[in-house]
Amino acid sequence: MAQKIVAGNWKMNLGKEEKMELLKGLKLSDIPNDVNAIVFPTSLYISDLAKSLTKIEVGVQNFSNQNNGAFTGEISISQIKSVGATIGLIGHSERRAYYQENNAFLKSKVDHAINEQFKFIFCCGEPLSIRESGQEFLFVKNQLQESLFHLSAEEMMNGIIAYEPVWAIGTGVTASSEQAEDMHKSIRSWIEEKYTVEVANSVSILYGGSCKPSNAKELFACPNVDGGLIGGASLNASDFHAIINSF
Ligand code: PGA
Repeated sequence: MAQKIVAGNWKMNLGKEEKMELLKGLKLSDIPNDVNAIVFPTSLYISDLAKSLTKIEVGVQNFSNQNNGAFTGEISISQIKSVGATIGLIGHSERRAYYQENNAFLKSKVDHAINEQFKFIFCCGEPLSIRESGQEFLFVKNQLQESLFHLSAEEMMNGIIAYEPVWAIGTGVTASSEQAEDMHKSIRSWIEEKYTVEVANSVSILYGGSCKPSNAKELFACPNVDGGLIGGASLNASDFHAIINSF
């Protein structure tokens, strides 16, 4: 069974004090035992958060594909682990669009994370022009084939994928539950084709893109939606809390 996950991607938001306010508002005791809640703060706050949060995992929004050395501005997995983060994002559409992270580069990050035994959420999703041309399934399958599907069945087992249609991210436009389920079901069937039904059923497939308390229940009720990667709504404690409790 795929694990239920709700992850909050804070992106480059929240000052030190705002972060404290948000933390105070999160009712940690109300997080259901069968839901894995994760926050992805700016890297500067990982250490603080990892010390103060017990029921929420702390992740990193970005990490280097190198171990150490002359890579100005980069942070290595061992440095990240040493301050308490346990998971990283790979392939978020903002990294793909603004920092030219292509499928081949993302494959190198996947391989590095696997080598370093660092858990990750692999993000995929099509831009609006691709959906309008009816190529969204081909496009997403290609992202997975070029960056992720070279892994062995063992490495793929219990993996986490976030489907985030670019046209829904930060726009207020959410994919309908039918659109989300269609893509999630396809992703699971591609994993089954490439690996086994057991592997396919072990992978958590999260939805991301303007997910909020008003639509989370309907999205999470879809058979192939195992949770969400939440941007804007994770910056508000009561919204994030409501989404975590939407299964
Ligand atoms: P959003 O962002 O919820 O603000 O649309 C989702 C994401 O980028 O992960």
